[in-house]
Order: sequence, then C-alpha cells, then structure tokens
Amino acid sequence: MTAIPIARSAAPARLVASFPSSRVTAPPGSPASADLPGAAAAAGAVAADPEVLNRRAALAAYATETAACSRCRLASGRTQVVFGVGNPDADLLFVGEAPGFHEDQQGYPFVGQAGKLLDKLLQGIGLTRDDVYIANVIKCRPPGNRDPQPDEIEACEAHLFRQIELIEPKLIATLGNFATKLLSGKPHGITRVHGRQQETTLGGRSVTLYPLYHPAAALYTPAMLRTLEDDFRRIPELLAEETGVAAQVIQFPTAVPQAPLSAAEQLGLF
Ligand code: URA
Repeated sequence: MTAIPIARSAAPARLVASFPSSRVTAPPGSPASADLPGAAAAAGAVAADPEVLNRRAALAAYATETAACSRCRLASGRTQVVFGVGNPDADLLFVGEAPGFHEDQQGYPFVGQAGKLLDKLLQGIGLTRDDVYIANVIKCRPPGNRDPQPDEIEACEAHLFRQIELIEPKLIATLGNFATKLLSGKPHGITRVHGRQQETTLGGRSVTLYPLYHPAAALYTPAMLRTLEDDFRRIPELLAEETGVAAQVIQFPTAVPQAPLSAAEQLGLF
C-alpha cells in the first residue's frame, strides 16, 4: 500500500491502510450489506469515535431510505437504486453520471467497461475502489442509457448532496459534464475545466472539486484517455494538499491499455 492518504487524516484512527469491505451503504439485500466481516472490522477501527459511527450509520440508513425512492420517472424502469459504494470515510469521492445496464443489474456504480478503466486508473495511483467512495449524479438507470434530463437531476440531486454531507470528502473528482456542472454550479463543460481544481462549498464544508473526463468517453478516444491519465496522476498531490499527509511519488505504470470494444460492449458502457 502506498502512503497516499485514503481516509481522514484529522483522526489517526481513520487512516485505515486497507479497508477490506466498505460497502456498508449497499442497498439492503445486496451481497454487500453492513453486516459483512469487513464492514465490522472497519467499524471496529473507529470504535472510539462515536461521531464517525453515527455518520456511517446515517449513510447506511440513507441508502436504505433511498432504495425506495420514487421522486422521478426513472423509478418505474429501474431494477434497483444504485446508491454508491466504497469507503464511507473516504477523503476522495468520485461522482459519475448515471447507472448503465450492468450497474442497474448489480446495484453498484461503475461495474462495466468504464468501471474497469476507473479501477485501472485507481490502481495506477496506488488505490482501489475500497479506498474511495463512488457515486453518481443519478441513482437510477435512464432508459436506453440516454442522458439524464434536467428534472431527473433536480429530483435526484438531494441524494448526492446528502451523501457528500455524510461522507465528508475533501476532494471530489467529478467524472464528465453532468457531475462537473451540478457540483460546480457552473455551466462550463468538461473540455474546458478538466484537470483544474476549484474550491467550493458542499454539504456545509469546503471541498476541492477536481473535474475529469468521464472514463467511458476516454475509452473511445485515445487522446482523451491520455489526458485523463495525466489528470489522474495529480490526485495524490491534491489529496496530500487537502489532508496534510505527504503523498508518495506515484509511478503511473504505463498508458492504460485501451481495450478493443465490440459494438455491444460499447452500448453497455452507461
Ligand atoms: N457507470 C456508472 O455508474 N456511472 C457512469 O457515469 C457510467 C457508468
């Protein structure tokens, strides 16, 4: 494991070197529920900090509540709400767009081809998805993987804002246009703002937003993939600035190989 800060630096107990299973916020009934041994071990790591335990419990309760959400039309076509997954104490939160076919089936964000690329990019900076938290702007799959509509984003945004409030990330990497525009509150597109961190206030706390190209878009475009890799490489340094924990020099192995995708796989990206 690297020296990259992966959980709260303010409270040493939160510096869990390896977070075995942080899927404590998975939808009830899914294989990753709060009673898994990993989650118990993680909870034990901070047993002395009631505020952390309360925050985690509130996140798990909110996931349960959200599983029955019917705030917009997407509720009628979904298999399940894709709430989010990862370390509830993470300093680093990734926010994507919306669940696609595989996410809707499995109940977790970024489990398709774009997710595999995200995993490789994380690996390149010495992290796994258990070190971070991953969520989307929209929690239910839009039919045919179409773009989320403005009223759907409006109906769903409170869920993401509540997640941010409860997870208390220091750095939020927004993946693509939808997350970037929603969380920055600005209309600037990802091509203009990627790789440029900006300070904002979310969930009542100061947080650094770091816009990145969406991994699914980078799968199609080699130049975008290189830019995404370059931008990703700066994450440890940004985390170090936010947490005060020195980042290790990161060896980003090589260019992330671009998997040749069949048309069917490409259609399944979102
Ligand atoms: N999978 C997700 O969960 N979100 C995206 O934005 C794309 C794929």
